[in-house]
Amino acid sequence: MSSNLPIGVFDSGIGGLTVVKSIMQKLPHENIIYFGDIARLPYGTKSVATIRKFAEQTVRFLVQHNVKAIVIACNTITAVAKDEVIKLAGNIPVLDVISSGSVASSHGSNIGIIATPATVNSNAYPNSILKLNTKVKVSQVACTLFVPLIEEGYINHPALDLIAKEYLSPMNENKIDTLVLGCTHYPIIKDTIAKIVGEDINIIDPADKTSDDLVTTLTKLSLINTTLNKPVYEFYVTEISPKFNSIGEMFLNTKLSTPQLVSLD
Ligand code: DGL
Repeated sequence: MSSNLPIGVFDSGIGGLTVVKSIMQKLPHENIIYFGDIARLPYGTKSVATIRKFAEQTVRFLVQHNVKAIVIACNTITAVAKDEVIKLAGNIPVLDVISSGSVASSHGSNIGIIATPATVNSNAYPNSILKLNTKVKVSQVACTLFVPLIEEGYINHPALDLIAKEYLSPMNENKIDTLVLGCTHYPIIKDTIAKIVGEDINIIDPADKTSDDLVTTLTKLSLINTTLNKPVYEFYVTEISPKFNSIGEMFLNTKLSTPQLVSLD
């Protein structure tokens, strides 16, 4: 496998760009292919069978594009389809936000997870964290309305404050010391969340550790791109929506090139 091949990052939509941002910062010379299934998002409220089918189609697309590593940037896909992704990836290394986020949070003693309903129902985070540290207490809350609110731009809005207080009150009652942002969108509202749970709570964004783990994996496999050319970033989506650029730029904190439309059906 050649080190100048791109890294494939995929998500149900735009949220995975929070992971791309972290990868771009730590690996500034890597070429990246990003795939966002905009036409079919959100995944977080869909059935396991549907999410697994969508994930399978996307991984086939990335494998055809000759990626040297696959990053599952979506918590929901990781929670219900990680085994399928690994199987289809063959010898391509696969990284994911739940494995990395679990390691990053496992030093806490009372850990709260907030995520989509599909992620919470899968128990993927508690299972993964308890494998690393059997002594921790783990609790979860599905925050179904966060994704649509963020996508509608209700970032600094009283509606978000109200709903966030409702969702996070069990975390405050449980006296958590660590909170995992178990959904790609939640880092965008980290300030609102921190205000409610308290500034002393250790808030984990799994994207940080995922990109660290990607650096470690590529280094181990001698797959770090050593050509110092300007990296090529390609964005593929299943629906052209003005939201990709407007919300994407909010997630990535930089201007985005026009995405290319693909059909997976
Ligand atoms: N990307 C999803 C996640 O991290 C959130 C958006 C969705 O529900 O599709 O769980």
